[in-house]
Amino acid sequence: MRILSGCQPTASLHLGNYFGAVRQFIDLQEKVHAEGGDAFYFLADYHALTTVRDADTLARQTHDWALAYLALGLDPDKATLFRQSDVPHVCELAWVFSTVTPMGLLQRCHSYKDKVQAGISPDHGLFAYPVLMAADILIVRSSHVPVGDDQKQHLEVTRDIALKFNQTYRNVFPLPDAFIPKDFGKIPGVDGRKMSGSYGNSIPIFGAEKKTRKTIMSIVTDSKGVDEPKEPEGNTVFELFKLVASQEQVDDLAARFRAPGLGYGHAKQEFFEAFMDHFGPYRKRREELEGKPDYVEDVLQAGAERARAEADETMALVRDATGVSRRIS
Ligand code: TRP
Repeated sequence: MRILSGCQPTASLHLGNYFGAVRQFIDLQEKVHAEGGDAFYFLADYHALTTVRDADTLARQTHDWALAYLALGLDPDKATLFRQSDVPHVCELAWVFSTVTPMGLLQRCHSYKDKVQAGISPDHGLFAYPVLMAADILIVRSSHVPVGDDQKQHLEVTRDIALKFNQTYRNVFPLPDAFIPKDFGKIPGVDGRKMSGSYGNSIPIFGAEKKTRKTIMSIVTDSKGVDEPKEPEGNTVFELFKLVASQEQVDDLAARFRAPGLGYGHAKQEFFEAFMDHFGPYRKRREELEGKPDYVEDVLQAGAERARAEADETMALVRDATGVSRRIS
């Protein structure tokens, strides 16, 4: 089994990303490593170019996401972490894939249509995004791709492209399967809508403590007073608390929600404390890693070297199958 997963280093890693995806993806490294397989994780900076147009921001955020993955337990001895742009073969493969990708396949993609509908003026990069994604996945010939539910269609496109290439030339690529993580239901943001970097309602995992508290205290609730009983299920504060607290703490808070005497301010403070307890060790580890500025870059370079070795093999197969750069002598 060879897994590969990537994330776009756009907004900061938040609670929704973490429980909905990143935690589960990192945990997979153990299983894959134990089975003698490979786990690749990469920071999709070429993808991020479709939205981030400031060099310092892009570089900083890419580095930050790498730091976050490492602080959260990605183990470079068990998994390969790299920056997409350090494996330029991926762009070469994306072009080859473009030449076998029917327009209609891309025109049907929800994420493209959604973005256009949301008022983003479409460019070719945004339209061709699923082709680059297929290249990310297939450049290392992955068999399984852990992705959120929203990326399922992109994975179907990847399979279609792999099949089309294999049929046009010869069997070079596996048809990778999506690996959809356990569904945590909707993880609400501070305004009650689904937590999302683009809604501005997220709680970043590694934000400054003071700012994190302020964000948590801003969670929108109803106007029930301290002495009114409250229904915990579906309540934003309670739903978020459930993610970071023990079963015992959860049962205890649920009982106090249902009885008079608990104000939302208090509940938020308890959530803040549970959040800090839960993420404390990761936050500390991140600080330690920040003190070793070369460490992250060293990991990324070693990862890139490993990924490039695979990519070289893939591109040799692709060049041979298609005839590009073949010499006639
Ligand atoms: N499109 C993915 C997202 O927005 C990120 C991504 C890019 C990706 N390339 C990938 C995920 C390859 C898995 C495999 O979340």
